Amino acid sequence: MEKIKVADGIHMLSMNVEDILFEGIWDIANGVTLNSYIVKGDKTAIIDGVIGWDGIPDTLYKSLEEINVNPKDIDYVIVNHMEPDHSGWIENFKKINDNFTIICTDKAAKLVKSFFRNDEKIRVVKEGDNLDLGAGKVLSFHPVPNVHWPDTMMTYESDTKTLFSCDMYGSFGKINKSYFDDQMNEEDVEFFEEEGIRYFSNVMATFTPQVKKAIKKTEEFDINIIAPGHGPLYRENTKKIVDDYSRFSEYTKGAGKNEVTILWGSMYGMTKKAVDFAEKVLEEKGVKVNKLEMPLKSESEMMSTVFKSAGIIVAAPTYEYKMFPPVAAALEELGRKKITGKTAFSFGSYGWSGGAQKELNDIIERNRMKWDFVEAVEFEGAPIQEDLDKVKEGIMKLIEKMEDKIID
Ligand code: FEO
Repeated sequence: MEKIKVADGIHMLSMNVEDILFEGIWDIANGVTLNSYIVKGDKTAIIDGVIGWDGIPDTLYKSLEEINVNPKDIDYVIVNHMEPDHSGWIENFKKINDNFTIICTDKAAKLVKSFFRNDEKIRVVKEGDNLDLGAGKVLSFHPVPNVHWPDTMMTYESDTKTLFSCDMYGSFGKINKSYFDDQMNEEDVEFFEEEGIRYFSNVMATFTPQVKKAIKKTEEFDINIIAPGHGPLYRENTKKIVDDYSRFSEYTKGAGKNEVTILWGSMYGMTKKAVDFAEKVLEEKGVKVNKLEMPLKSESEMMSTVFKSAGIIVAAPTYEYKMFPPVAAALEELGRKKITGKTAFSFGSYGWSGGAQKELNDIIERNRMKWDFVEAVEFEGAPIQEDLDKVKEGIMKLIEKMEDKIID
């Protein structure tokens, strides 16, 4: 666990976590950090915490002592969010400190009771409520419901102008040494932008309207530092992560980078022949291509790659009168995350009967995804030249159609 001084009286304790499924689902290839913050005035508060991964919370207590904070002397636990990646340690903390007050929203208070099954000392806060820690440190609380759960809030410290934004402005990705934006090289910046896209698409996309409200709320603060619950801190250019989140919010509604993602699967290589052909056509046209072969790609990668692309090709054969199941499952997941408005094209092979296209239409309709498709191509068995010509035609139309959806 790293101990980083954020500002006078404020420390971050950050732990890299890997080899886990985030939320029990997401196979995050590059890990994630769990960030806790200590704010010291005359009283001491800890904002967010950690879950019992990797020897935590013992590591947390040891780290607190290394920055001269006795865990028994913590007066307030600020629960910005009750999801256990932030709050899971509290159950254990109660064993060593029986005199702290939890500060949280009314929705979080309900969750505290149901998760810990105990009578905690809780102070429920509303928009703009303050907590004076003494020595100039004053915290104020700002609910941002559904970013990511209904209980979530951000906390602002007025002396140092630090916004503890919780899941908002977070990203996946382990941190090796550059915890602040001004310590990052170009490669780090690119890495955390990609990991931000992965995080937003996996965790936040469903709640894009609420994220937009939180962006508006952020604009009301005078901010020197943005300190999220996951990922790096921003102090040189706090606007960068706010702008990134604005752009990611547009990706949810169909905008994207100038890239085409081929979401595909193939049983015996017939559809694959057309996929390989499509890849060549796109490359000849100078369009970046991402290929997601399902079910070989992780759900996390599938979600973030489709999410960030302006153009999508769905390529899947018919399987038992319906769409090849791993591709259908990926589309359902995209629907659940409310990835809407993508510009798309579909093709695939069938044996004795079609059906993939019908199921594709059903999924798009049922999930109200409003994807804008150019005319589909279905071919019997292996594609012949005439089929490939139609695939090429579809790709040309896709490239033209996606042009006004491109934002970088
Ligand atoms: Fe970082 Fe919604 O938990």
